[in-house]
Amino acid sequence: MKFFIDTANIDEIRSANELGILAGVTTNPSLVAKEGVSFHDRLKEITSEVTSGSVSAEVIAEDAEGMIAEGKELAAIAPNITVKVPMTLEGLKAVKAFSDLNIKTNVTLIFNANQALLAARAGATYVSPFLGRLDDIGHDGMTLINTIYEIFEKHSIGTEIIAASIRHPLHVIDAALNGAHIATIPYKVLAQLVKHPLTDQGIEKFLADWNQQK
Ligand code: E4P
Repeated sequence: MKFFIDTANIDEIRSANELGILAGVTTNPSLVAKEGVSFHDRLKEITSEVTSGSVSAEVIAEDAEGMIAEGKELAAIAPNITVKVPMTLEGLKAVKAFSDLNIKTNVTLIFNANQALLAARAGATYVSPFLGRLDDIGHDGMTLINTIYEIFEKHSIGTEIIAASIRHPLHVIDAALNGAHIATIPYKVLAQLVKHPLTDQGIEKFLADWNQQK
């Protein structure tokens, strides 16, 4: 499983990239709105200065025609832009059009396996099932990842599964075990993955012993 970072914050993206594990970035309108910057400028900054991995940029239009026009503009910013499209009937039409144009897509707001299968058949590069938001309403987000994985395997579908709406480190382990190709993770959770109290204690003890040598 690969790691994407789920943020539009440039400092967080730079920090994650310095760790050597970053394969891509996902943004969404809420994350971009928090930054108070021009979306296009931020995408240029990320793609030209930080990563050549996939950078998902979401369309705002709700009709296929509008999505296609917006997506073409986003895709023109850099070759590694992936157009993020919501899971709707209009979204599917747009995904098919992008696929015909060889523009990569990430179908977002996936909450059941039929949505994932439809997105894949329309030509999506990625599907993003939202684990945390399903867990929040008492459903089992992880079972959805596994079901999508089984269906894609059984039917030799090449669309990659991005485990999204990740809330904590256990989500990351379980997403990997259940077949997600990618987990897109907020910076806070990425930092939590590194931590273990025994690691900290071990470093402290090694340093104390080292400093006491005669
Ligand atoms: C994925 O691409 C989304 O940006 C994201 O994971 C949504 O997560 P949230 O449920 O924490 O908003």
